Amino acid sequence: MGNAMLGPMHELDRIARKISSKIGILVGGKDYVGMAGNRSESDIRGTYVPFVRAALKSPRLFASFRSHPHYRKILEHVSEEEGAAYLDWLRQHAPALLDRIDDFKINDRIGNPAVHDYSGIGSISPTTLRYIKVLADLQRLFGGNIGSRIAEIGCGYGGQLLVIDRAIPFDEYHVFDLPPVLELVSRYLECFTLNGSYDTYTLNRHSGDTDYDLVISNYAFSELPSGLQRKYVSKILSRARRGYLTMNSGLPTSSFTEDKLTQSELLALLPDAQIIPEEPNAARDNYILVWGHEPSNQAGTIAGH
Ligand SMILES: C[S@@+](CC[C@H](N)C(=O)[O-])C[C@H]1O[C@@H](n2cnc3c(N)ncnc32)[C@H](O)[C@@H]1O
Repeated sequence: MGNAMLGPMHELDRIARKISSKIGILVGGKDYVGMAGNRSESDIRGTYVPFVRAALKSPRLFASFRSHPHYRKILEHVSEEEGAAYLDWLRQHAPALLDRIDDFKINDRIGNPAVHDYSGIGSISPTTLRYIKVLADLQRLFGGNIGSRIAEIGCGYGGQLLVIDRAIPFDEYHVFDLPPVLELVSRYLECFTLNGSYDTYTLNRHSGDTDYDLVISNYAFSELPSGLQRKYVSKILSRARRGYLTMNSGLPTSSFTEDKLTQSELLALLPDAQIIPEEPNAARDNYILVWGHEPSNQAGTIAGH
């Protein structure tokens, strides 16, 4: 029977169902990992976790997960202009990394991210430029000596890890995130051959008895509710000799203010930490918490790797 015979409502319903099943997400409604009050800013909308689960089930969705609107609400939202600002910063502070830009473009091979053409370096995702900028900061602050065991809290799909792996030697990289996100990280990273190795953890599955040479967390630890932040401090951050946390909470006018540790509470919990500005600045009142660095290494140009 032709669709025209079924009437316009039926046809609309058919199209809606087709779209839903094609996208393969949110058909079952919103879903979360944490219970109410124990959710990060990513988990709070209820659309991120179902999308990640759907991308794990569908090879077609995985093939372009980085450009999907549900995913871009949480990650992959660095604009072309912000990418240009990271590039300018890298030209000034870490030109040696730009000489090997093709090594980092590998991060754009999977997940079909939005890419833009930048003068002098060609086509690259602005998010990858941000990951290279973080890598440059790590080299600038800590020199070549970062140690062998790294932890990252809230790592998206693992892009920062991949970029670091291309430039800094490490043995073990422990990734902390939500259970379905950890599956996405493994799915993503197994597309490549790494120099170092990684392992995945939820905070609950980690005993907290590991010493780290470096912990990093960008726009992730800062987006957790305060109870969870405290637990990450006691199990992971306080066991790390070096730290680099990009923060978008902690001040009254930060992007996130609901149930977050304040900057002074954090400085009391992490007595060796120092605040440095986020440059380029992604949002008003963002800042970076750093410890274990040489104070003289806060500025200057990074030597070639
Ligand atoms: C805004 S994204 C930032 C991702 C990445 N650091 C980046 O810069 O692209 C926040 C990250 O925190 C993760 N996250 C949410 N709840 C978490 C939790 N309880 N523990 C660890 N990570 C969590 C999200 O899954 C996501 O990977």
